[in-house]
This record gives sequence, C-alpha cells and structure tokens, in this order.
Amino acid sequence: MSNIQITKEGNLQHLLTTESMNKELIIKIFDIAETFLKIGKHDVKKVPLLRGKTVCNLFFENSTRTRTTFEIAAKRLSADVLNLDISSSSQSKGESIIDTVNNLIAMSANIFVIRHPESGMPKYIANNVSKDVHIINAGDGNNSHPTQGLLDAFTIRKYKKDFNGLKIAIVGDIKHSRVARSEMHTLSILGVSEIRLVGPKIFMPDDIDQTKFQEFNDMKEGISDVDVVMMLRIQKERMQQEIIPSEKKYFESFGLTTKLLKYAKKDAIVMHPGPINRGVEIQTEVADSSQSVILAQVTFGIAIRMAVMTMLIDKNI
Ligand code: CP
Repeated sequence: MSNIQITKEGNLQHLLTTESMNKELIIKIFDIAETFLKIGKHDVKKVPLLRGKTVCNLFFENSTRTRTTFEIAAKRLSADVLNLDISSSSQSKGESIIDTVNNLIAMSANIFVIRHPESGMPKYIANNVSKDVHIINAGDGNNSHPTQGLLDAFTIRKYKKDFNGLKIAIVGDIKHSRVARSEMHTLSILGVSEIRLVGPKIFMPDDIDQTKFQEFNDMKEGISDVDVVMMLRIQKERMQQEIIPSEKKYFESFGLTTKLLKYAKKDAIVMHPGPINRGVEIQTEVADSSQSVILAQVTFGIAIRMAVMTMLIDKNI
C-alpha cells in the first residue's frame, strides 16, 4: 500500500485510492459504517466524533451525490463544514491549489475532500501539505473514486452477505470510469470470484488483468447468471471526441432493459453510481424496479464517508 495513504503504525492518513488497500482495512471500514447506518435511523443523527474539526469540500468538478453526502456525513459527525465555491474563489486570480489549501489549513481545516478533473491531483496535494491534514480523493480524472468503490462493495455486502462465489458484471464505459477502477480494485481485494467487464471494445481499458477480470462485448453473455449488474454512464466529459455512433444505438446494444435483466439471476441487484442517463445505459423501468438498489447506494455512501473520516481522525477506533 502507498505509504502516503497509511502511516507506519498502519493507520489511515489519507484516502487516495482503493488500489492495494488490504481486505482487513476494507472490512474495518465496512464494520464501522454499519454502526453509522444505525445512527442514520435515529431521530438525532449526530455523534460527537469530529467535534472541533473542520472538513473542507473542494470540488473542481460538478457533483450531486459525493459532495452532499460528504457534507451530511461530516455534519453527522459534528464537524464544521466548509464548501469552497471554486468558481468564485481566488483560483481565478491565479492562486495555486497548494496555496489555496494552505490558506484553508491556516483557518484550521483538518480534512480536505477533493474532486478534480486531473488524475493524481489529490495525491499531489497530499504530498505537498502539512502532515497534520488528511486528504480524501472524491474523484480524480479517470483514475480513482475510492469512497464510491467502497460504498458500492458495501452495498453488495448488504444485499448478498458474502463476496465468495459472486458473479458481478460492471457494464458500460469502463475505459473512462474512475468508479469502475475503484470498484474493480475493491471487489478483487474482497475475493469476488468472477468480475466481468461488459461493453463495446471501445469502452474497454487497454490493460485488463485477465487473471482477475473477464471481458465481454455482448450484453446477454456478459450479464448471464450474474448476482450483481453495475451500470455505468458514458463519460463524455473524459473523451476527446464522440466515440459512439448514437446514444439510441448504444442503448439497443448495451442498455439494461427488463428483457435483458432476465438473463441475470432472478434475485440479481442492479446498481449505478449515478448520475443515471435513462434511455442511454438504463431503461427507466429497470432503474425504478424492485431489483434496483441505486438509491440505497446513496444512503450507504453517507455511512461509508462517516467511517472513513472517523478513521482518519480517531486512530483508536
Ligand atoms: N457517483 C458520483 O460520483 O456522483 P456525483 O458526481 O453526483 O458526485
């Protein structure tokens, strides 16, 4: 594991990637998240674990779920939360990102939640700021989105109990997806026996480790008999040019419809990190069906983010 992410004592210092995390650490995050899920059901959803700490959200890219669930998670832990509006910040006057972060540290920020279009930016920041602060990667380019990978695997554990023997299909634009990369690392570390990557050739990564992942370019074959179908949207913002002929044609071949879902196991769950594009990668009837756990993923995301922030601050947990 990258030593910048884990201290010599084995504690979580930053959360930058799920790559090379170990199973023990992931399970610990899940078990702590379980306790926070229970708190989420109370009338008073607050605990004092981060009282006196400040969490700063720095989002250089748009977000609905990640930014708000980090804010809710931090508030439930009793932290102060600062959401810097990048568009009206002094970044536009030429301030470097490290200077911005250092100014916020001077205001006593303890945890930075960073989303950035450039792969590696959270790691760069972690390498260039005071050792006392913690960086959480909330999505960098097409590299990594670790809390999403963790919350997706946590969702699978909630519905399927055990990772052993599961068949999971990740479907869509895997090549440009940081979510897919984080899911692939997490599920593989957790020992999922069959992880399928399903989509057209143009959406397959160049460097698939065939000892861990199986490639399918046909939707029916790819989702046949699986326990979990994880859908992804087409990441147009990370493409140099349009690489699919039309969304309609894509939907005809790789959109998840009720008809296609019948090829998966009867009790298969359907997941999607959001935002969903109805009629492009998923049919409305599937997104809103009883097999869909898309909104549960969002709820579980709060608990996972509470667990990660608590582990960064409280080394005794
Ligand atoms: N899943 C996800 O990252 O969604 P947002 O872009 O809305 O944060």
